[in-house]
Amino acid sequence: MSAIAWPTDGSAAGSLVGRGAALARLQASLAAARGLQRQLVFVLGEAGAGKSALIERFTGGCGARVAFGQCIEHYGSGEPYMPVLEALNALCRADGGEAVVRTMREVAPTWLLQLPWYLSEEDRLKLQHEAGGAAQDRMLREFGELIDRVARDAPCCWCWRTCTGATTPPCSCSATSRTAAGRRR
Ligand SMILES: Nc1ncnc2c1ncn2[C@@H]1O[C@H](COP(=O)(O)OP(=O)(O)O)[C@@H](O)[C@H]1O
Ligand SMILES: [Mg+2]
Repeated sequence: MSAIAWPTDGSAAGSLVGRGAALARLQASLAAARGLQRQLVFVLGEAGAGKSALIERFTGGCGARVAFGQCIEHYGSGEPYMPVLEALNALCRADGGEAVVRTMREVAPTWLLQLPWYLSEEDRLKLQHEAGGAAQDRMLREFGELIDRVARDAPCCWCWRTCTGATTPPCSCSATSRTAAGRRR
């Protein structure tokens, strides 16, 4: 796990000024993920510091699958996993998405139930019956297995953007995973 906190090294990374070192760190994390080590990187900075620009530059040329999820402020009761569901939905819609849906059907049915437009009515009822009001613990376990499976053959960057909070600066989190499962199975 590491954090990038805006070096001002004066280096140029394309049209991004002073982000050469930060890009190099993200690329090093991706290289480690290709070497089967899961990576978690936090990109921290105030609004306008350039977090999104950095992440977009990195993911645009990284050659890995990328899934974005955005935290937004809610009024009233919110959907707690909305950014995760957004990222999952994006993966399902992208090239190779059918395989992601199949993997969700297999190892993460409680998550697939949250994206019912990928299910027939019959399948949805069947899954609902199987899941039987699954608890949060099960959802977390399923998600852990899902991200391992999704990254079985090639790394996947999960990027979550948080909102500005009262005590924490805005943050973009890029989790890059690839698991040994790809070699074992
Ligand atoms: N390193 C940089 N060099 C030049 N322009 C930048 C750089 N980083 C960000 N910008 C520009 O600054 C603005 C704010 O950046 P953004 O990535 O949206 O900030 P944040 O996500 O931290 O709120 C954008 O117009 C972006 O293109
Ligand atoms: Mg931003």
